[in-house]
Amino acid sequence: MKLRSLLFVPGDSERKFAKARGIGADVLILDLEDAVAPSRKDEARATVATLLDDTAPRDFAFFVRVNPFDTGLTLADMAAVVKPGLDGLLIPKANGAHDIAQIGHYLDALEQKAGMAIGTVRLMVVATETPAAMFALGSYAPVHPRLVGLTWGAEDLAAAIGATGNKGDDGSWTFPYQVARAQCLFAAASAGVAPLDTLYADFRDDAGLERSCRDARRDGFVGRIAIHPDQVATINRCFSPSDAEIAEARLIVDAFAAQPDAGTLGIGGKMYDIPHLKAARRTLATVGE
Ligand code: COA
Ligand code: MG
Repeated sequence: MKLRSLLFVPGDSERKFAKARGIGADVLILDLEDAVAPSRKDEARATVATLLDDTAPRDFAFFVRVNPFDTGLTLADMAAVVKPGLDGLLIPKANGAHDIAQIGHYLDALEQKAGMAIGTVRLMVVATETPAAMFALGSYAPVHPRLVGLTWGAEDLAAAIGATGNKGDDGSWTFPYQVARAQCLFAAASAGVAPLDTLYADFRDDAGLERSCRDARRDGFVGRIAIHPDQVATINRCFSPSDAEIAEARLIVDAFAAQPDAGTLGIGGKMYDIPHLKAARRTLATVGE
């Protein structure tokens, strides 16, 4: 499953869904949580359930963000949307792997009822939205068989601890949220799932999004959340290897293949060793080589 761009679409907006489906996002996340007003939760759930029945060919994975456990709405959300057509759920405000295990058990039963193979529905988690979650990031390894990615969020975390802000004057995350971002990255790597950066809220600032995506990719994130269709192309581009990177990766892999007993090699006047080989293989894997 490609997980470069994950575009949020409010679950009560068929209009936005129609707009989002042709945009090139790897994943559409139909939201039943905070993009939907409490008065429209039932309507959104019914709308998303109907959209899932559309059998037209898709070039995106269909995910739904359900409401978190403390709302009492999670099971009704799951009961409505676990059916053929659903590729995955995004679990917000998770407090650790035990929440994912519980969701997994519910999914076993709901998939059985819907006539789906057990394990079809994959999971992504917003892993830093509560203070307790910050102490549970290590729990995602060993990995749950349904889990494919971890992402993080700064807004709910800031609200939960009573912060008056989460960004400095220059727009960068303040230290507590840099910790959340980095810990999410390490948690995902340790579980062997995709680390996915959080959203870039200023959806008119394409240059800022591009810079932020380049930083994220450098740090190890493999994709990120989008909140507006205009963000998808930039995100896809930034999280895909460039032609030059692919060419360099091929050079490294070929050089080591030609000298299978070498642990370190000089190529073009630069030193390459096993970590470089691993990175080159990972780059080629993203383009199917
Ligand atoms: N998915 C699909 N279509 C979207 C979209 C999205 N996430 N965001 C905007 N669009 C559509 C708009 O409906 C509009 O289409 P129209 O011209 O046919 O009406 C077009 O793109 C241009 O939108 P624009 O005017 O630039 O933005 P807006 O003011 O209408 O919407 C937001 C701004 C933030 C409300 C909107 O981008 C949005 O709903 N984002 C997702 C929010 C969300 O799901 N948050 C939860 C996770 S944090
Ligand atoms: Mg949130």
